[in-house]
Amino acid sequence: MNFKILGTGSYVPDHVVTNDDLAKFVETSDEWIAQRVGIKERRVSISDTTADMGIKSAKKALESANVVGADIDLIVGATISADSVCPNLACMVEREIGADCMAFDVSAACSGFIFALETAMGFIERGIAKKVLVVCAERMSKLLDWNDRGTCVIFGDGSASVVLEASEEGFYDSVIHTKGGDDVIDIPTRDGISPFYKVEPKNPFLFMNGQATFKFAVKSISHDVKELLDKTGLTADDIDIVIPHQANKRIIDSAQPKTKIAREKWYINIERFGNVSGASIPIALDEMNRNGLIKKGDKILLTAFGGGLSSGAVVFEW
Ligand code: UT7
Repeated sequence: MNFKILGTGSYVPDHVVTNDDLAKFVETSDEWIAQRVGIKERRVSISDTTADMGIKSAKKALESANVVGADIDLIVGATISADSVCPNLACMVEREIGADCMAFDVSAACSGFIFALETAMGFIERGIAKKVLVVCAERMSKLLDWNDRGTCVIFGDGSASVVLEASEEGFYDSVIHTKGGDDVIDIPTRDGISPFYKVEPKNPFLFMNGQATFKFAVKSISHDVKELLDKTGLTADDIDIVIPHQANKRIIDSAQPKTKIAREKWYINIERFGNVSGASIPIALDEMNRNGLIKKGDKILLTAFGGGLSSGAVVFEW
């Protein structure tokens, strides 16, 4: 059993923050960010919650798939910036689109879309779900220390969703890896106050060791893509489109030659949105879809890495 993508949708907030805007309050420059990361601007949500963004992209995906909420058998959310630990993002989306099904989130940071597809595929293969809505939404701006130039220049806010349908035709395969790495990327939850023990104050913001993440990213992309091609028997030439996680253009520049998949097949939009964590890949997928850049039968390879540490790659047929 495989899936086909019935529809895609994305939503990014209107508020554009340029590199020059950031340079007004943190010691950085447009030149440094553009050269070292490849970002020119990102979106920051002024009023949309994470769920608001998820709901907006989900509605667009349903419309593009020509289905309604009641048709959906399962909603898998992927986020690390949900408005609450509970309820999860997927449940909030379920209510607003009029669905009545199982809805839960996966937490795999920037690899979230890959993990969500893999989870959806498990339900499809077991015959439990025929139509699945995957929703990725991130309000990274609320997790950042806006005085830390090593992290605040990288991330952006946004959301994207896809509707999948079980299909006998097509093709799907994946590789997924994780290893504990809170020394590399860490986003703490909020501690309460207890009468039973003392809570040590900790850094409330996203922490990232940029160089360690960079090395992990390049290694993961080259390793995962090779492993996936070996597993499926596909060659680099068989792949029509690669959508990598949009974290740093230099990561893509370093990893791409190692995969032997031609550079012109790699889709990059980081310059306009920055790193939207788990929503980066589906935002790019929706952009390609809406711009008519994907043909029926194209083999699309997605590759991502991020907090966890987590990484993975999937290949499927459009
Ligand atoms: O989505 C998954 C998670 N994230 C990633 O994949 C990000 C992976 N890492 C990266 O993209 C890069 O490591 C960064 C963009 C975070 C940093 O770039 P880098 O080339 O690794 O810089 P660095 O940390 O080695 O720092 C080099 C210099 C330092 O100055 P000194 O010590 O050489 O004087 C930094 O303080 O660049 C400085 N620097 C900056 N300068 C201007 C760091 N950030 C900035 C900045 N503007 N925004």
